[in-house]
Amino acid sequence: MILTTRLLTLAALAVVASAVSVQLVPPALRGVPNSVSEDTPDLEGRLTDIDTIVSTAQIVEQKDGPTADSPPNQPISDTVVTAVDGELTEAGAATPSNSTSNGRRTLPKKRRAVSDYNLVFSGTGTRSTDRDASIQGTAYLTFRVIDNSTYNVDACLDFCSSEPKCVFANLYYEFNNERLDHFDREKSNLKCAIYGDVHTAVEKTNFGGQQSYSTGNSLTYIQQSSGWASKDLLEPDVPEGYELVFGPLDGANNAPGYMGFAFLDKYDVDACARECNRRGADGNGGACQYFNIWRAVVSGVPTTYTCSMYFIVADASTAVNTGQGDLKVTFSRGYSRKNYLIDGGFEGYTECASFCFTESYTNWVASSPAGGYLDASVFYFKTYARNGHGSALLGSATFADDKSGTLSVAQPLKTEAGKKYQVAFFQNSAFSGPTFQAKSIVQVLWNGKVVETIKPGFTTWKFHSVDVVAVGNDILAFSGGSAPAWTFLDDVSLWPLFQ
Ligand SMILES: *[C@@H]1O[C@H](CO)[C@@H](O)[C@H](O)[C@H]1NC(C)=O
Ligand SMILES: *[C@@H]1O[C@H](CO)[C@@H](O)[C@H](O)[C@H]1NC(C)=O
Repeated sequence: MILTTRLLTLAALAVVASAVSVQLVPPALRGVPNSVSEDTPDLEGRLTDIDTIVSTAQIVEQKDGPTADSPPNQPISDTVVTAVDGELTEAGAATPSNSTSNGRRTLPKKRRAVSDYNLVFSGTGTRSTDRDASIQGTAYLTFRVIDNSTYNVDACLDFCSSEPKCVFANLYYEFNNERLDHFDREKSNLKCAIYGDVHTAVEKTNFGGQQSYSTGNSLTYIQQSSGWASKDLLEPDVPEGYELVFGPLDGANNAPGYMGFAFLDKYDVDACARECNRRGADGNGGACQYFNIWRAVVSGVPTTYTCSMYFIVADASTAVNTGQGDLKVTFSRGYSRKNYLIDGGFEGYTECASFCFTESYTNWVASSPAGGYLDASVFYFKTYARNGHGSALLGSATFADDKSGTLSVAQPLKTEAGKKYQVAFFQNSAFSGPTFQAKSIVQVLWNGKVVETIKPGFTTWKFHSVDVVAVGNDILAFSGGSAPAWTFLDDVSLWPLFQ
């Protein structure tokens, strides 16, 4: 009985196999894929949407400064996102990208001295009729009250120098403020407000006029409001997991692979890196791989800090957008995400000039289970690749069997133990058409353990990702394929998720 069933099954298999082999030329024989990438979208076409950025910059409101009743010595708040893809966040600011500096300490910069500052504007005198105004500007950090026995510029600039993010200080007297006059322990009406961006006299828009005392009707007013800017604008530290590509320039990228933008309330490259890391992947283009951060100056006033994201790495050659109308682009810098994987595009396999394949080369090693033949391999052939000429194949390249092979990195990865990474890759299982591709399978192995199983069926290039935690010297591998349900892999990445 058992014998009969088995014979029948084998006979059925033989029929299917011969039918299939007639129709299907396997990849090893340079078979033509059922579906060539004509139907993949035009990735080059998605350029930076500068119009939306400009129109959003006209309405975003993220200027700030001390008010009559704000307490001094508040900690500097985390960078907040004030707009996402043309929509302002709550109150032009909300969604604090929970950062608290991820425990990473920036190295102390060279300590600035008072002589490292320039006077940007001076204030009025202090006669009873003099009236001045304090700054309401972007990238407000915090304020202190300073000993008011003199107009203490040095103490204010020392305060700015002590804060790594500070590049500008606004020093002024505020009168008729009950809190300053009586409640605060410092007993001083000399306020020193610090900022992460430089401001000018046109931004002196806070004239006081608030009722602070509970009795009487004298309103707050301001005198002798001066502004001081650090001579060197701070060169930001490169965010972890990224590389500086260019900048600072006065041009923003107009580049393909655009994924959208966020406005930040400070020029904060770490916050922009976080936005890029957290940006949902584009189904066709994949993960964010590059960001462009720049300051928008509208009618001469710093207004917001744009963080544009891309799934294609750009460079200075497309940093050509200097502004539009009254908006000027300044301090534009580009950063690309570091791929911790060597040769994730299989471009390092260069045995031939148009068509060849192998089980192993310098960067990747394939293996087949017992009795299997060429169940994983790497191809040099433009037609099979998503990018360039290299791609990997899971499933017997010659159609010798229907076993699943394994493709592994040749060298352990230079990962940091305990840190989180994302494995990202593109997979294509369209070669033999919808019927024969129904059983497609891909597994991601991290140190030999399956961390993800995908049963994609029939599909052209599709993005996938899985988060992993490193133990150090980790081994990444892919297994799968079951000819004729072949799967091609390309553009494999390992992104750090430290930010
Ligand atoms: C954000 O950080 C604060 C403390 O820094 C923490 O209390 C809070 O739970 C965090 N929120 C999220 C969503 O991680
Ligand atoms: C210093 O500030 C305190 C509190 O506002 C005020 O009472 C005092 O008159 C100020 N002193 C000078 C010299 O301005």
